[in-house]
Amino acid sequence: METKSVILTGGASGIGRKTVQHLTDLGIAVGIIDIDDRALHLAEELRDKGATCYATLADISDAGAVHQAAQMLTEKIGPVQGLVNNAGIVNNIAPLEKMAQSAWEKEIAVNLTGTFNMIRAVIPAMRDAEYGRIVNVSSGAARGGLINQAGYSASKAGILGLTRAVTLEYARHNISCNAVLPGMTETEKVAAMPGVIKDAALAMTPAGRFGDMAEASHLIAFLLSAEAGFINGADIDINGGAHLNVMPLGSRKEATRQQR
Ligand SMILES: NC(=O)c1ccc[n+]([C@@H]2O[C@H](COP(=O)([O-])OP(=O)(O)OC[C@H]3O[C@@H](n4cnc5c(N)ncnc54)[C@H](O)[C@@H]3O)[C@@H](O)[C@H]2O)c1
Repeated sequence: METKSVILTGGASGIGRKTVQHLTDLGIAVGIIDIDDRALHLAEELRDKGATCYATLADISDAGAVHQAAQMLTEKIGPVQGLVNNAGIVNNIAPLEKMAQSAWEKEIAVNLTGTFNMIRAVIPAMRDAEYGRIVNVSSGAARGGLINQAGYSASKAGILGLTRAVTLEYARHNISCNAVLPGMTETEKVAAMPGVIKDAALAMTPAGRFGDMAEASHLIAFLLSAEAGFINGADIDINGGAHLNVMPLGSRKEATRQQR
C-alpha cells in the first residue's frame, strides 16, 4: 500500500497550508477542510499546477458538517488513506477564573472534538481497506501546559489520549495514529506575536530558533507514509529540544562560565 489520498484540516494557513503544498508536491491527492476560504483558493492554485487538491468549507466541531465534507472530498480524491488533524485555535487567553465558559468550550470543541469528529468520519473506510495513517497535530502545551491557556492546553493534552485510544482500537487494521507536538513554529501568527513572548520562548529552546513550517510538514508527510506504519500511538516532539525544559540559554552559558 501507499498513501495516495489525504484529508487535512486547517489547510488555509500556517503549518496546514505548507503541508498541503508538500503533500501535493509528493503527488498525493489532498482534500482540505477549513472555515477560511483561502483554502478554496489554495486548492484552485494547486489544481492549476496539475495537482489533485480540493477544498471545502466546514467547521470541524460540527460532526454533521464534517461527515458531509469528508464524503464530498472522498468523491474527489478517492477513498481516504491519510488524515491530518491540523486545524486548531487559541481564542482564550485569560486566567482560569476569568475565562468565559463559552471560550473554554469553543477550544475543546474545535481542537479536541473536531479531531474526534474527523477520525470518526474517515476511520470506517480505513478499517475496511485495512490501511490508514492518522496524524494529530497537538502542541508542546500538551506536556507543560501554558499559563492563561487552560482550554488550549487541555484540548491539546486530550488529543494525546485520543491518539492512544485510536491506536489501541485500530492498530490491528494497519491503521496508525500519532501525535506531533510542535514547539514555536514560524507561522504568520507566531511572527505577529509580541517580541517579549517570542524572546521567552526562544530562551527555552535549546536550538536557539523557532521551527520552520517545512520541518513540520516533512514530519507529517513521513508519518503519513506506508513506511511509517509501525510508529503508532506516539507523541513526537518537533521543537528544537524545548521539551527538555532546560534553563534559558543565557543562564546556562553563565553557569558553564562559572564552573570554569
Ligand atoms: N505555530 C505554532 O507555533 C504552533 C505550535 C504548537 C502547535 N501548533 C498547532 O499546529 C496547528 C496549526 O497551527 P498554525 O500555527 O499553522 O495555525 P493557523 O491559525 O495558521 O492555522 C489553523 C487553521 O485552522 C483553521 N480552523 C480554525 N478553526 C477551524 C474550524 N473550526 N474548522 C475548520 N478549520 C478551522 C483556520 O482557519 C486555519 O486555516 C494547530 O493545531 C496549532 O495548535 C502550532
